[in-house]
This record gives sequence, structure tokens and C-alpha cells, in this order.
Amino acid sequence: MQLTGKTALVTGGGRGIGQGIATALAKAGANVAVADLEGDIARDTAARVEALGRRSIALRVDVSDPASVQRLIEETEDRLGPLDIAVNNAGIIGIHSIAELTAAEWDRVMAVNAKGVFLCTQAEIAVMRPRRFGRIINVASIAGKVGFPDLSHYSASKFAVIGFTNAVAKEVAAEGVTVNALCPGIVGTGMWRGEEGLSGRWRQEGESEQASWERHQKTLLPQGVAQTPEDMGQLAVYLSCADHVTGQAIAVDGGFSL
Ligand code: NAI
Repeated sequence: MQLTGKTALVTGGGRGIGQGIATALAKAGANVAVADLEGDIARDTAARVEALGRRSIALRVDVSDPASVQRLIEETEDRLGPLDIAVNNAGIIGIHSIAELTAAEWDRVMAVNAKGVFLCTQAEIAVMRPRRFGRIINVASIAGKVGFPDLSHYSASKFAVIGFTNAVAKEVAAEGVTVNALCPGIVGTGMWRGEEGLSGRWRQEGESEQASWERHQKTLLPQGVAQTPEDMGQLAVYLSCADHVTGQAIAVDGGFSL
């Protein structure tokens, strides 16, 4: 699978899954614009892409802000060339029971995970459509296929990504643009690890964060082991190459979901 000469964009590309996807696309030959709310970490990933011999730029973006997203697409095309592949990966999480979930917290997560994917996809389609080529990959989650307790607003935002992806894919299917959702299972990024990550917050009494991390892998995942950012990169490369896969929500979760 070759992406030589293609221009790709990865949001939330400064670390974690986004960094794994950006480097996998670069290994396959793509030049990659790395966009993140935190400009410093975007530069770190851009340096990794350049070390692989590809061109890269680091850009600051807030995916929940329409003007910021518009600038991102314009600057990517000005500096790297026509956009072929876009991975809308930026996302945030919060852990709240339904009794404690506030309207403000609901809006915070929806603004990035659902509205951010909508704004990016819309702006990307606008430049891809006239050229009759584009590959859009929206990062959802297994929480977009199955509900998780205490993650109701996060789950709702990821279900939204999958529904939106399937609907938009049909709108542009005859115009050379594919739109798919990539659903990670459990990946040991900052979202899961550390005191503030899911394994820190979902500890049993007396359990260490490491033990909680291991327990969640074993109890949730049929394969018993977490996935990696590199696993997500492999699927992103495949979806960037595939001509006739569109509207799908494909999980990389070791057998957890349908
Ligand atoms: P992470 O927290 O390590 O990385 C997320 C990145 O998005 C960060 O670099 C952050 O600065 C950036 N970001 C946050 N808000 C932003 C905004 N408004 N605009 C631009 N960038 C923003 O998390 P991770 O794990 O790499 O997650 C990436 C995606 O994968 C997210 O959409 C997440 O929901 C999803 N996911 C992660 C799973 C996991 O097990 N880690 C499982 C399923 C889905």
C-alpha cells in the first residue's frame, strides 16, 4: 500500500493515536500536516514525519472552532499541496455518572468529538469534491458501537461520529471521496493511562493504576491485550488506499465489538 506524493492531515496528531497514524501515513509515503490544540506537541510529531524523509508542517487548531478549521485546511493546502487524506482524530473524554453529568460537560465533549468531526469533514469535502478524490477517516471508538457506563456523553459523541460518517459517505460516494470511521478499542495513551486516565479513575480499592490497566485489558478484550497507535496507523493506511470501502465503522479492538 503506497501513498507516495499524497498530502495527509491528522488532527490531534501531537501524541497518542494521532501520532501513530501520522507516522504510519508517512512510512507509506505521504507528506503529513500535523494539527493539534497544543502546537508544541504537533511539532514533535512533524519532526518524526520529517525523520522518515517526508515533508511535514505543524499547525495549531481548535477543531471545535469553524474559523480555526477553515484556516487549517487553507494553510495545509498552501504549504503542502492539495489535500488527499484527512484523519479527524482529535478527541476528549470525561468520566461522569448520569446523575453528575452537567450540561456544560455534555457541551464540552460534544463540541470537540462530534462538532469537531463535522466541521473538519465539511471543510475537507469542500476541497476534495471538485478534484473527485479524497479519503476521510473519522476516529470514533468502540464506545461509538457499545455504551459504557459513566461515559454516556462520550459514547453519545462517538455514536454521533459513526452516524454522521455513514450519512456523509453516501452524499459523496459517487464523487470519488470515501468517508469511514476508525474505532479504536483500548490504547494506552493519556486517555487511559495515569491517575487521570480511565485506568486511574476506574481503580478498585487498593489497586494500582498498572494493575487496573492490566485488568481492563483482560476483562474487556477477547484477545486480552491492548491495541497500539501503530495498529490504528495500519487501518488508516488501508482506508487511505481503498477505493470501494466507504461509510463503514471499522473497529481495531481485539474482538470486542461487532
Ligand atoms: P490523547 O489525549 O492522547 O490525544 C488527543 C489529542 O487531541 C491531543 O494531542 C490533544 O491535544 C488533541 N486535542 C484535544 N482537543 C483538541 C481540539 N479541540 N482541537 C485540536 N486538537 C485537540 O488521546 P488518544 O487516545 O490518542 O485519542 C485519539 C482519538 O482516539 C480520540 O478521538 C479518542 O476519543 C479516540 N479513542 C481513543 C481510545 C483509547 O483507548 N486511547 C479508544 C477509542 C477511541
